[in-house]
Amino acid sequence: PQPLRLGIAGLGTVGIGVLKILRKEAAMLTARTGREITITAVSARNRSKDRGVPLEGYAWEDDPVSLATRDDVDIFVELMGGSDGPAKAATEAALNAGKDVVTANKAMLAIHGQELAELAESKGCVIRFEAAVAGGIPVVKALTEGLAGNNITRVMGVMNGTCNYILTRMEATGSSYEELFDEAGKLGYLEADPNLDVGGIDAGHKLSLLASVAFGSRVAFDKMELEGIQRITLEDIRAAADMGFRIKLLGVSQMTGRGLEQRMAPCLVPATSPLGQLEGGTNMVVLEGDAVGQIVLRGAGAGEGPTASAVLSDICDVARGFRLPVFGQPATTLRETNGAVSNTPAPYYLRLTLQDKPGAMAK
Ligand code: NAP
Ligand code: HSE
Repeated sequence: PQPLRLGIAGLGTVGIGVLKILRKEAAMLTARTGREITITAVSARNRSKDRGVPLEGYAWEDDPVSLATRDDVDIFVELMGGSDGPAKAATEAALNAGKDVVTANKAMLAIHGQELAELAESKGCVIRFEAAVAGGIPVVKALTEGLAGNNITRVMGVMNGTCNYILTRMEATGSSYEELFDEAGKLGYLEADPNLDVGGIDAGHKLSLLASVAFGSRVAFDKMELEGIQRITLEDIRAAADMGFRIKLLGVSQMTGRGLEQRMAPCLVPATSPLGQLEGGTNMVVLEGDAVGQIVLRGAGAGEGPTASAVLSDICDVARGFRLPVFGQPATTLRETNGAVSNTPAPYYLRLTLQDKPGAMAK
């Protein structure tokens, strides 16, 4: 078979991680997919930046749209980020030019997933996004492939490592939310817009994608009940501990008789449960299917290696010829959802009702 030729836009944390694996493991990837995987061209904003990886041998494109539409590119690998702007423009251009797309961009897909999925399918292309949900945890594949014979009854999880880091450090150190927000910033954990992390938006994007795959529903981020961790106080943390609980920014989605329930909010979880034992910047996703029962997946939700690992799994799938529709079934068959909110107590979590903090910082 002909080599599979990649155009990679974005040479930051994830893009460089992908490049490193492609360079180091070329023979292994060829053996596993039966096809040589090569990089034709790359794009980033700053051409002269030293990225610690040699870029000679790859064509350089300043404009991601030009990269995405090159005749010698088969897959456009979008690792720039941002829900709109160059990421969306180049993804659309790639699909219109008949290229497959691999992306880690949860923000783009949570907002524009339906239109991009319809465009991809109308052009006979695929979009794969394993890295967009819970980083290195192969949860999209678990749902679309491993659990294909199940009716999924619920998906839950801690999907923002930064929030879990702040919450577990509040418990361990007795430092305030505000102090640990600053610490997370100094450690480089926060997104450029930190409200995406602490406001629950980043985790909400991920849950909306997972819910679409799990329940065959249209991505409905706009219908999610969403609350971040900014109002959690040390008193909340201590009161939870006294009762044998921990506070987690927990996403829960289930299909009810009234529609799709999606909630990303601080919850009390029993300290002895798998979710209650999750420490630091780790992610955990819990999947429940009618045949399989409950499955718990835990791992790194971010970082160079884990996220690149997920991007590579998608590239390998395309190399192997897997043509799965974007959200696991044709975009036009995805159900509309009314975004139901249920007050039914669930066995694994209790939604916290938070009071406004006196003098709370506007973060
Ligand atoms: P990053 O380190 O900020 O890198 C972004 C890259 O995109 C940079 O190389 C930047 O170029 C390039 N870029 C930005 N705008 C561009 C434009 N207009 N034209 C060409 N290149 C452009 O971001 P990242 O952490 O790698 O994240 C990439 C994507 O992966 C995002 O969608 C993110 O949400 C997702 N993701 C990240 C992680 C993670 O752990 N980091 C985990 C899961 C998913 P310069 O380097 O020249 O500035
Ligand atoms: N800011 C995200 C997190 C990065 O903390 O989980 C990975 O999506």
